[in-house]
Amino acid sequence: MSIHQEKDAARFGDWELLRRLIRYAAPHWGKFLVCVALAFVVVGADLGRTYLIKVAIDDHINGYRQPMVAADSAERLRSLGLDPLPGAPGERAYARVAPDSAVAGGLERVQLVELDGATYMVAGWLPAEQSGLKLTQLPESDGGGLAVAFTVDGKQTVLPARSVTEAEESAFQSGDYAGIWKLGGLFLAAVAGAAVLSIWQMNLLQYTGQSILYKIRDDLFRHLNRMSMSFFDRNSVGRIVVRVTQDTESLNNLFTQVIVNLLKDVLVLVGIVAVMLHMSVKLTLLTFIVLPFLAGLTFWYKMVIREAQRVARALLSRLNSFLAENLSGMRITQLFVRERQQWEQFNELNESHYRAGMRGTIINSVFQPAIGMIGNFAVALLLWYGGLRVIDGALTFGIVYAFTIYVRQFFNPLMSLAEKYSQVQAAMVGAERIFELLDEKPGMAEKAEPVRLKEPVRGEIVFENVWFAYNEGEWVLKDVSFKIRPGETTAFVGATGAGKSSIIQLINRFYDIQKGRILLDGIDIRDIALADLRKAVGIVQQDVFLFTGSIADNVRLNEEGITREDVVEAARRVHMDEFVRSLPDGYETLLGERGVTLSLGQRQLLSFARAIVFRPQVLILDEATSNIDTETELVVQKALSDISRGRTTLVVAHRLSTIQHADQIIVMHKGKVRETGSHRQLLAQEGYYYRLHQLQYKDKGIGKTLNA
Ligand SMILES: Nc1ncnc2c1ncn2[C@@H]1O[C@H](COP(=O)(O)OP(=O)(O)O)[C@@H](O)[C@H]1O
Ligand SMILES: [Mg+2]
Repeated sequence: MSIHQEKDAARFGDWELLRRLIRYAAPHWGKFLVCVALAFVVVGADLGRTYLIKVAIDDHINGYRQPMVAADSAERLRSLGLDPLPGAPGERAYARVAPDSAVAGGLERVQLVELDGATYMVAGWLPAEQSGLKLTQLPESDGGGLAVAFTVDGKQTVLPARSVTEAEESAFQSGDYAGIWKLGGLFLAAVAGAAVLSIWQMNLLQYTGQSILYKIRDDLFRHLNRMSMSFFDRNSVGRIVVRVTQDTESLNNLFTQVIVNLLKDVLVLVGIVAVMLHMSVKLTLLTFIVLPFLAGLTFWYKMVIREAQRVARALLSRLNSFLAENLSGMRITQLFVRERQQWEQFNELNESHYRAGMRGTIINSVFQPAIGMIGNFAVALLLWYGGLRVIDGALTFGIVYAFTIYVRQFFNPLMSLAEKYSQVQAAMVGAERIFELLDEKPGMAEKAEPVRLKEPVRGEIVFENVWFAYNEGEWVLKDVSFKIRPGETTAFVGATGAGKSSIIQLINRFYDIQKGRILLDGIDIRDIALADLRKAVGIVQQDVFLFTGSIADNVRLNEEGITREDVVEAARRVHMDEFVRSLPDGYETLLGERGVTLSLGQRQLLSFARAIVFRPQVLILDEATSNIDTETELVVQKALSDISRGRTTLVVAHRLSTIQHADQIIVMHKGKVRETGSHRQLLAQEGYYYRLHQLQYKDKGIGKTLNA
């Protein structure tokens, strides 16, 4: 698999992933519960709002058309548990009742009807299924006079009626003003309340999601810190960065968008259907003709767009890791004038990503209006059928109005439900990658009960028949054995690739060996507590990494136990103190971004200071002086002989001149120890070392001048 490639399919079972995600979410269950409760209230307020309008229209704005009962006194109505209309005209008292209620003895059924622009009071109720309502006269046999006629199931009914003046009509409505005020207030309260609770809910959810993410990122970072070097050999920086940033973000979506809102969406859908059924079964069924198309198209749309987004996302993470890698390799890019080639690769990725994004945009531009149209079609259907039924009197205007609103409210949760599926998918892929990383064994397993090093460490190092390979089967060190006595200086020489750096990286357990033993003070280093081992062994390498921060921080590496005096003392010993004091902010001078840039020699001195400030008993220098100019090297050499006094020192050096005074020189060749001895002994042997020596002195005069 290429380093830029990202996996998309889920390997863990989804349940296993869920179980682990829940473990992260579990400490926050209380907050989730509050969010769910808030969701219930908000949904209730949202749906209730429309219903309030329906009530306002039917019971108040059009309330005077409701069936009524009339009685001789208001007390009579009250005694039957009815609410007399305030301000009704004439001697009698009236109360509005539901169309299907039973009427107690002595009460008279009446209803106000609007016909041809005038209002009439009819002595009786108009059934919902009636049609052909018209004004007529009572037959002479019944005394003549005004009447209304209508048909139910083909049978005509005639009810006596009388004309109602506009003043009387207003009087019947006088109680409705107060009712509309009350409903208006409730409506406002519902809107404001839902808004406030929504804000609360969203913030609480975000807070919870971010807390969970914080923990996951924290775990990831700690875990990465414990990974062995071979892990970083295998995984590019760019890819790891994407894991910690992008993949955790898709998880955030899961916690903040999906879990609670999924419930909310379902609540809205179920709630709307319930209210619709409560208002009118027929209209509900009519709406259901359209809804399946709406739902089908929505889910299809989401499926298509999800695929487009998935491609775009995969391209984005490739783009990201390509970018990260190129930024860290910028030096090389510019050195070898590869700008154009790198740009071409970037451009290709960038363009594919752009095309994937455009595809999504086009899909959106087609589907979104199509879905909107189906929604409008449902409204049209409602207006046509519902409007006719209102004219007939079978439905109230408020119900039809509420339906048109509810149909639209149906739309959002449907859309977001379809969206949720893809969010869950993305989160699962993200979660899988994150857990995969967390499950990666930290290569350096410590023993259950590691040996703590006894202070003071003597610093004796023994390699016993060590075999080592970075990759199985490719032996880099073959049967290497040597012994370094405490306090002595040992030099490693040999051609590039001979295995010198590998030996050094084994001593502080950046890698573990396959065969043999490495002993520090007679203890197998695999038995020693890692922290103790690494504290005892200080390594200075050729390329010095500087963190963003002050010079003092870079020496002390945020270790609390190291005081300013320690830092200054270390700097003095590596002959860096004078230079640091000449800087404007001295030891507080910032390095890295927006800070001062140090020369290679200065960086190297800083790395010496960094190594010795921790007072390691074993000091290892891997070609630490190779990229320093001759003048600085003299300073560094002096610093070196200074700091190597009293500690075991291992030096890898290209220039043989720098290691002539070593107590012991180990000559490496193709992963094996070729010769061992002091400078004098090795020269006398006239072997490999002798030849190396001859070669170097023939080429350059450095060694001679230094020796002179
Ligand atoms: N991180 C690594 N992963 C795989 N192989 C490596 C790694 N580092 C070094 N090697 C290989 O190990 C061999 C010895 O390298 P090294 O110890 O760096 O040699 P030296 O320091 O003597 O130049 C080389 O063949 C090199 O390619
Ligand atoms: Mg090396």
